[in-house]
This record gives sequence, C-alpha cells and structure tokens, in this order.
Amino acid sequence: MKNVLITGGAGFIGSNFVHYMLKKEPGAKIWNLDALTYAGSLLNLKDLPDPERHLFLEGDICDQPLVEGILRDDRVDTIVHFAAESHVDRSIEGPGAFVRTNIQGTFSLLEAARKVWLDEASLPRKAVRFHHISTDEVYGSLALDAPAFTEQTPYDPNSPYAASKAASDHLVRAYAHTYGLPTLITNCSNNYGPFQFPEKLIPIVILKALQGLPLPVYGDGQQIRDWLYVEDHCEAILTVLKSGRIGETYNIGGNNQPTNLEIVEAICAILDEYIPDSSHVPHKQLIQFVRDRPGHDRRYAMNIQKIQTELNWKPAEELSSGLRKTVSWYLENEPWVKSIVEEKDYQMWMDVNYTNRSDNS
Ligand code: NAD
Ligand code: TYD
Repeated sequence: MKNVLITGGAGFIGSNFVHYMLKKEPGAKIWNLDALTYAGSLLNLKDLPDPERHLFLEGDICDQPLVEGILRDDRVDTIVHFAAESHVDRSIEGPGAFVRTNIQGTFSLLEAARKVWLDEASLPRKAVRFHHISTDEVYGSLALDAPAFTEQTPYDPNSPYAASKAASDHLVRAYAHTYGLPTLITNCSNNYGPFQFPEKLIPIVILKALQGLPLPVYGDGQQIRDWLYVEDHCEAILTVLKSGRIGETYNIGGNNQPTNLEIVEAICAILDEYIPDSSHVPHKQLIQFVRDRPGHDRRYAMNIQKIQTELNWKPAEELSSGLRKTVSWYLENEPWVKSIVEEKDYQMWMDVNYTNRSDNS
C-alpha cells in the first residue's frame, strides 16, 4: 500500500480517513479525487499531518479516462472508494444523482481498475486492492427483536440511497468473481463525529439547538441506529485493507442501539452542561416530532463477529464519550459551520426538507 487513490476524500468519512491514514501510514502517498459537491469541502483537509503526501484532485469518479490516467501515471496500488451521494432524505427528493454517482460512478471506477490493473497489468495482481465503502442500509430494516445483520443477510434495500449502494456492492462483487479484481467491501453502520455535513441527524440537532430552533425528530423517534464514531470506522477500514481476505465483505458497527429520541436527548443534556447560561436550557424543550420520512427504516444493527474474530477489530469509543467529543468539535469550529450554513444551497435544502413538516401528519 504505497500509492492510494481515495475517492470522496473531501467529505465526512473520507476526510477523516485522509487525516487518519497520513497519521498511521507514514509510507503511503494519497491522491484524493473529489468532485466537491455540496457535501465536500477543502476546509475538511486543512491542517493535515504530513500534507506533502496528499494531493487533492478536483474531479468526477464518472470520468473514467481521468481515473485511468491517475491509476497509470501515479502507479496507484490501492483504491479506497468513499465518493457517493449519501443522504437518504435527498435520495427521496431526487434519486437521479444517487443512480449516477453511486452506481455509474462505481462502475466507471471498476472499469478503470479492470483496464489498468488487469488488462494492462500495470502492477502485479496481488499488489492491488479495490476497497469499496458501503453501508448497513443495504440489508433493509430489522424488527425490534430480530438478530443483527451478518455478512450473510440477504440484501433488501428500501430507500433509493440504499438501493444505489446495494447496486454498487453487487458490481464490486461481480468484478471480483468474474475478472478476479482483488476487492474488499466493508458495510458500516451510521457514523458520527467531526466534519459531518449538517444534514444528518447528529450535527443538525447540535446546530439547531445552539440557535434555539426546533429539533426535528421524525415520526415517533423510536427508530434505532447502530452509531459508530468516525475514527473507529477509519481504524476498521485500515485494518481490513491491511489484513482482510481478498473478495470478502466485513460488517462494521458500534455495538449500540439507542433510539433517535435518546440520541437527541443525550445531545441536549451535553449542551445543557457545556453552555449552562444559554437561554435555551433545557435544550430538550426544543424537541419537535415532525412528519416521518417515507419508507423510514425502523432499525439497523450490525453483527461484527467476523471482523472481531478474524481481524481483532472492535470499536474503541463509547457512544457517550463520542457524542461529547462531537458536540465539542462543533462548538469549537464555528468558521467551518458558518461556511456551510450560510450557503444558499444549504438553506434551500433546509426549506425543502423541513418547511411544512411540523404538521406531523
Ligand atoms: P459525504 O456525503 O459526507 O461525502 C461524500 C463525498 O463524495 C463528498 O466530498 C463529495 O464531494 C464526493 N462526491 C460526490 N459525488 C462525487 C463524484 N461524482 N465524484 C467524486 N466525488 C464525489 O459522505 P460520507 O458520509 O462521508 O460517506 C462516505 C461513504 O461512506 C459513502 O460511500 C457512504 O455511502 C458510506 N457510508 C456512510 C455512512 C455514514 O453514516 N455517513 C455510513 C456507512 C457508509
Ligand atoms: P440520518 O442521520 O439521516 O442517517 P440515516 O438515514 O442514514 O440513518 O438519520 C438518522 C436517523 O435520524 C434516521 O432514523 C432518521 C432520523 N432523523 C430525524 O429524526 N430527524 C432529522 O432531521 C434527520 C436528518 C434524521
């Protein structure tokens, strides 16, 4: 693992991974290909450790000749593919971008890898890896008492986002099976932590609470997610890259099962403690139950036995300490927050998703 192409490395998890990898892998050089959509920001890549080993390239993963050129010219031996449209609510509003980036984009990366790595044999096959970053949402929704998802759970995606990720997973699997492309797939649960775009539950609740705005809880707030601190995800990815078995899938999760309402209340309690003089204390008075997301998955839970026993990885961060770190990060990074929330596009999305939602019907 010397020359690494990271796609989507200006987004939430990708940028955390760039920081993490530069810190942990002193021999690795990173090419970071990102289209800088609304979700990507160069501010996420400030203050990198050892920045001379990181090269940012603004570009689209659907541009196959561009990707082929990077693989060939820079002798890339490892692709870690994060780039995606990632927000379920946006996929409900406009699924087209999800089909393009998540399916077509992954296809185009796979084709570039097939051409340069396999057809042209630019590097020995055993030296290359295509690591695809995916989600637990491909497995569908669990009943409250159902066992957690394993790597054998049949795919049953419900949202356009989940369906597009499922399609991309299938393509990766097919390239391994048909062409012998050395692949790895990781399916991870909901992440949280620094640099998460404030359209997802945790950052949106932090930022709205600071402004004294209603905290939108969809439906009855009893949906369950398996939250993982983003640095734990980065560690798991690097572990799989270094020691995972080629062609395998590994589930990654946080081993916890809070309801959305519990998460929102926990954030409110942390804010009460951190800013006791705020006129919004107690922040939980701001909670507002709003109209549910269509097709809303009730529960996700990951069985992480495989990665734990095979690769000795398990999450290190407790949910309570991870939430405290995350709230602190948003409090301490006001310029970053401002650069997003003052954007016209962001305000438009807030209007599209939240205006007229409060009738809860
Ligand atoms: P994000 O939305 O924060 O970032 C996505 C990044 O991809 C952005 O920087 C964006 O500019 C870039 N991008 C989008 N379209 C592109 C294109 N066509 N070409 C190049 N770059 C493009 O997403 P995230 O939350 O960091 O998620 C990263 C990956 O992890 C995704 O594949 C997602 O499905 C997966 N994942 C996310 C979570 C989560 O909780 N956020 C959980 C499990 C898996
Ligand atoms: P989200 O962060 O969008 O992640 P995902 O949909 O990928 O799980 O949402 C997490 C949970 O929080 C999900 O059950 C939907 C819910 N949610 C709200 O209740 N209110 C909100 O404003 C948002 C964005 C999400």
